[in-house]
Amino acid sequence: MSRRLFTVGPVEVFPDTLDSMNRPMMVHRGKDYQDLQHGVVEKIRKVLDVDTEVFLAPASASGFLEGCVRSAVENKMAGLSNGSFGDRWQLIGQENGKKVQKISAEWGKALRKEHVAGKLEKDVEAVTVVSNESSTGILNPLSEIVEGIREQSEALIMVDGVTSVGAVDLKPRKLDLDALVFGSQKALALPPGLAVVCASHRLMEKAAKVKYRGYYLDLMQYKRLSDKDLPLTTPPVSLMYGLDYQLDKILREGVQNRYDRHQRMADMVREWASKRLGLYAEEGYRSNTISVVRLNGMDFKEFDKRLRQKGFEISPGYGSIKDETFRVGHMGDLSEKDIQDLLNVMDEVMEEMA
Ligand SMILES: Cc1ncc(COP(=O)(O)O)c(C=O)c1O
Repeated sequence: MSRRLFTVGPVEVFPDTLDSMNRPMMVHRGKDYQDLQHGVVEKIRKVLDVDTEVFLAPASASGFLEGCVRSAVENKMAGLSNGSFGDRWQLIGQENGKKVQKISAEWGKALRKEHVAGKLEKDVEAVTVVSNESSTGILNPLSEIVEGIREQSEALIMVDGVTSVGAVDLKPRKLDLDALVFGSQKALALPPGLAVVCASHRLMEKAAKVKYRGYYLDLMQYKRLSDKDLPLTTPPVSLMYGLDYQLDKILREGVQNRYDRHQRMADMVREWASKRLGLYAEEGYRSNTISVVRLNGMDFKEFDKRLRQKGFEISPGYGSIKDETFRVGHMGDLSEKDIQDLLNVMDEVMEEMA
């Protein structure tokens, strides 16, 4: 049975996007592939308004979260966290043998400048920050966090934009971010399998000095080949066709229009959730791509089962708040009409269950 996905990723991929990938395979060491990769990289720069390096890997986004740590941290990093994905990047650091200064804030609340200002240890080489914390539905205020870091430290700033890139203006040029990592299966509305990182020249200079960066996710290896518009290893060619198509779609829609649409969809879900059950994230810092809704005693299994029977899918809670919340994804190519359909069906199911 077909389902309409209002999930946190993979998200709904529209038929025209799926069709765009249904093209003959090509070998990746040749002019046709080089032209495709060159075009994709240029369009990413245009959509995100960056002039950084742009690398693409056959991996989920976590691949480059790890690749950044391995490539740019010799000894010590700091990991900011106010949720599961912040914790995850700290863990990636630890499991790669780095010392990690953990800076943690309360879940459901935004990370603020005061959490970092004056708090970073002197020998920290890089700071990891999650822009949109998908477990709690908080969009962290990146510019004040970056300001807090830069006031005291020259550490690289590496940002997880997994559930914000393509939906929210992160201003990577203005904030001069050193790494911005994301994947194909979230707000870009593609199937999973491609990781992307925008990496600053400062980060690449640092990487050149770091020992034992590995191979598969080493940003220096990517740089060597991407200068010739080539991939490091065999790329997911079909996904590259799809990404090229989606980037054209985003440029046709207009980047700001896309951000505005995400704002409107988020407003609709928030209004519904505030009236019906309540939201987990603090007001003023709520995500424009994922709303984390309090269960307030509602039986999620039953709610989810009934929604699926009507052809709709949402996501359960995540991490330590898994049993208190559920999550609604409102990103990618969805429209306000799609969101209204979901809200109507959620109303219907809640009435059935009352
Ligand atoms: C904020 C955030 N960071 C990282 C990840 C991990 O991404 P992936 O599963 O593509 O490796 C996710 C996945 O949901 C996420 O939401």
